[in-house]
Amino acid sequence: MDFEREYREALALVEGELRGCFIEDMDGPHRELLEAMRYSLLAGGKRVRPVLTLKFCQALCGEMAPALDYACGVEMLHTYSLIHDDLPCMDDDNLRRGKPTCHVKYGEWLALLAGDALQAAAFERLAESGRTTPAANGKACAVLARAVGRSGMCGGQYLDIKWEGRALDGDELRRIDAWKTGALLEAACLLGLTASPAEPSSAQWEAARRYAQELGMAFQIRDDMLDVESTEEELGKPIGSDAQNGKNTYAALYGLEKCGELVASLTEKAKESVREAFESPEFLCALADSLAKRKN
Ligand code: IPE
Ligand code: IPE
Ligand code: MG
Ligand code: MG
Ligand code: MG
Repeated sequence: MDFEREYREALALVEGELRGCFIEDMDGPHRELLEAMRYSLLAGGKRVRPVLTLKFCQALCGEMAPALDYACGVEMLHTYSLIHDDLPCMDDDNLRRGKPTCHVKYGEWLALLAGDALQAAAFERLAESGRTTPAANGKACAVLARAVGRSGMCGGQYLDIKWEGRALDGDELRRIDAWKTGALLEAACLLGLTASPAEPSSAQWEAARRYAQELGMAFQIRDDMLDVESTEEELGKPIGSDAQNGKNTYAALYGLEKCGELVASLTEKAKESVREAFESPEFLCALADSLAKRKN
């Protein structure tokens, strides 16, 4: 298996599809809103979530194509969460994916709406996919809605800010990260299984969930580490933002060395979860390894 090549292939599918989004109404009176949506959506980014969607679909049925709309929807949803996360009333950051954040470029009210509209577009994309069945699309919408709402991404973002400046224990910190970051990564994996014409067994569904939960925790810990040890140039977003905001992070609670150990052990657990359940788990394992070492 050539990990880099397979990642590039999946990435090219997603990028190709995203590039065509929202251009059909460009001569309308709301052109600037569409521009702001495309500005953030097409600014780069690793596309980890859509790649997970495509690759879980492929792990089950041998093909990525059925999951392409779901993959695009997940990335739209994620981009909305980043636009709102950067707003002055939240993390107040001015750099994202190596470019000025949406509100710096377009102003706050327009960035707010660009995020809102991306969220709506995400569900539209899932609900109307012609690559899957209407039943699968309904299930996909439910999976995504559950992941990003009150007991998922929004709940996590609430706690992340509500508990700023307060000393948390490990359980409280895990709760924040499982919700704000883990839940959407989990949905990304489950949407891949949902798109597949071959039904997943309950063992495969559970394996995907466990993989995503371990991976999600490792992903956020690595994110916290990079906020301390990376550079703005390499990361494409500001460094030191967490400390400045009095955020509770793994880096602050445990220090960088312990964080490195945690990421390594969570990554091993993630890989273990999918090894037995899927016939060809090699890419998913290699992806977990690469995210553990990521530099941005
Ligand atoms: C950043 O997500 C937000 C977190 C959940 C840590 P990514 O690190 O996936 O950001 P992009 O999509 O590559 O820009
Ligand atoms: C945000 O976590 C997770 C989201 C739901 C967007 P962070 O606030 O740590 O993400 P970055 O570091 O700004 O990308
Ligand atoms: Mg945040
Ligand atoms: Mg942030
Ligand atoms: Mg961060």
